[in-house]
Amino acid sequence: MTTTIVPMSEPDLGPAERTAVLEVLDGKTLALGPRARAFEDRLAARVGARHGIAVNSGTAALHLCLLAAGIGADDVVVTTPFSFVASANCILYVGARPLFVDVDPETLTLDPARLEHAVETMARSGRRVRAVLPVHVFGQAADMDAILGVAERHGLAVIEDACEAIGGAYKGRPLGTLGDAGTFAFYPNKQMTTGEGGMIVTGDARWDALVRSLRNQGRDVGDEWLAHTRLGYNYRLDEMSAALGLAQVERLDEILAKRSRVAGWYQARLGGLDGVVPPRLTATTTTASWFVYVVRLADPTARARTMRGLAARGIPSRPYFPPIHLQPFYRSDFGFRPGMFPTAEAAGATCLALPFFGTMTEAQVETVCGALAEVLDEHRAGSRGRPLSGPEEAARA
Ligand SMILES: Cc1ncc(COP(=O)(O)O)c(C=O)c1O
Repeated sequence: MTTTIVPMSEPDLGPAERTAVLEVLDGKTLALGPRARAFEDRLAARVGARHGIAVNSGTAALHLCLLAAGIGADDVVVTTPFSFVASANCILYVGARPLFVDVDPETLTLDPARLEHAVETMARSGRRVRAVLPVHVFGQAADMDAILGVAERHGLAVIEDACEAIGGAYKGRPLGTLGDAGTFAFYPNKQMTTGEGGMIVTGDARWDALVRSLRNQGRDVGDEWLAHTRLGYNYRLDEMSAALGLAQVERLDEILAKRSRVAGWYQARLGGLDGVVPPRLTATTTTASWFVYVVRLADPTARARTMRGLAARGIPSRPYFPPIHLQPFYRSDFGFRPGMFPTAEAAGATCLALPFFGTMTEAQVETVCGALAEVLDEHRAGSRGRPLSGPEEAARA
């Protein structure tokens, strides 16, 4: 087995994070302590939201937003097929139905024109769409003005999945704060981490109160420990995680700047590399929050070979994202098939995430880019020497 020479991702942790977590252990209050609230207040202030509610994953954050929006059995919620599976699973958790709408080929985020068309088509068939859940995929901002316009015209709740986009901005406005609520995720490959963890931000005091109750087994403010006003969950964030998050949010500007620098090293090297299309932030993503570094391969048949070639050189890579509607249970339970969302499927077939993290050195970026160039060269040389198959011959004719 080849040894991995560059990790896929790595959290950016310093002495402040270590001290913060050890202080919690020394104090022995491991849950329901002051750190979670401090983390919520600090992060909400950082992104300019009125309320922050910490939870133990980004998925939990999405689930609670669906509940807070009052989405339930047989409701319809529009989302993108090009995301991590949790963006659509949360809709299933509440018994609602995800209505996928294809993405814009530039941003790979929900296409607002298709969104409006889908909402109107549903309305004509007698079913009302209740909410829209755009995803700022890879940290690239969805076209929120257009999406908010559709939501306004049709009375939809807007839940922003900003799990990959903390600290980013759309036309100068912080991602996560543009809809009724936004969600962030803090798994260790994310820009900032709490180990496992997530956060909901909202400007609405009613959502804040409801989400706080739902994450804490349905207890309302003033309830005794064993009194449960409503059906709730244990989605609380523990104190070690909150302390880690608090230390990370203090460093968020530094963390994001380091990631931008690494992305810049990649851009400089991959800009002229034949066969590779580097990522491009659109003008509306006015502040970048680099989550992953995802290139597109010009040849849609090249990805599996490229991944194997990189792996043989000790370099991991990931096929972000297989479209959600083509996941096995979405196909078998809901009848989704290839061809239904061509832009998402084309992206799903050609996108390749390369190793990326804020502490990555320029030498590591150089190693990855060198290996990628080598692998692509090998393919080109290989396909020049290979006799053409029937369809290829026909295509050349
Ligand atoms: C877009 C998106 N939504 C939701 C999630 C879910 O977050 P978590 O893994 O913390 O549950 C992720 C995490 O990878 C994500 O990338």
